[in-house]
Amino acid sequence: MIPRREECLSLMSRYGMLENIVSHSLEVAKVALFISVELNKRGQTIDLGLVEAASLLHDLTKTECLKTKDDHAQTGSQQLKRMGYERVGEVVAQHIWLEKEGDPSCVCEEEIVNYADKRVMHDRIVPLEERFNDLKARYGRSQKAMDYLERLQKEIYGIENKIFFILQIDPNDIQRLL
Ligand SMILES: [Fe+2]
Repeated sequence: MIPRREECLSLMSRYGMLENIVSHSLEVAKVALFISVELNKRGQTIDLGLVEAASLLHDLTKTECLKTKDDHAQTGSQQLKRMGYERVGEVVAQHIWLEKEGDPSCVCEEEIVNYADKRVMHDRIVPLEERFNDLKARYGRSQKAMDYLERLQKEIYGIENKIFFILQIDPNDIQRLL
């Protein structure tokens, strides 16, 4: 079961998401859908409804987690699964850190939502490097946090290479093509 766009938008408002997190999520959905449609034209079989819902809902519990300090990927995932949105919950769980072993020739919904989130800084599409510079400035307060971000960055460059090798476009052309 996957919620339609209208259902996602009403969930987002019911959860009292901060305005800037809503704008971010709308932009992530735009990027993720664009990539998915283009990948499907080149033989991939991405579930567009799943990508849209998971993109819109990936930060569903982030606003409350700013206070509770819980991991919003996990709490968001749990709550979505409890609503019966199992697959959406699985994708949301992996929007920060991918657990799934990537298939070299096949792109999955988890990778697309994770990647699109890294390309949108606030509500602006930026290169990965710019997004990670911002993340490091905001969250890289300790060596451990920096190492974590470095690992994350390395992983996401791998995903970018895989996606754009299939698409045969420059990752930084997305903004122009959207
Ligand atoms: Fe998030």
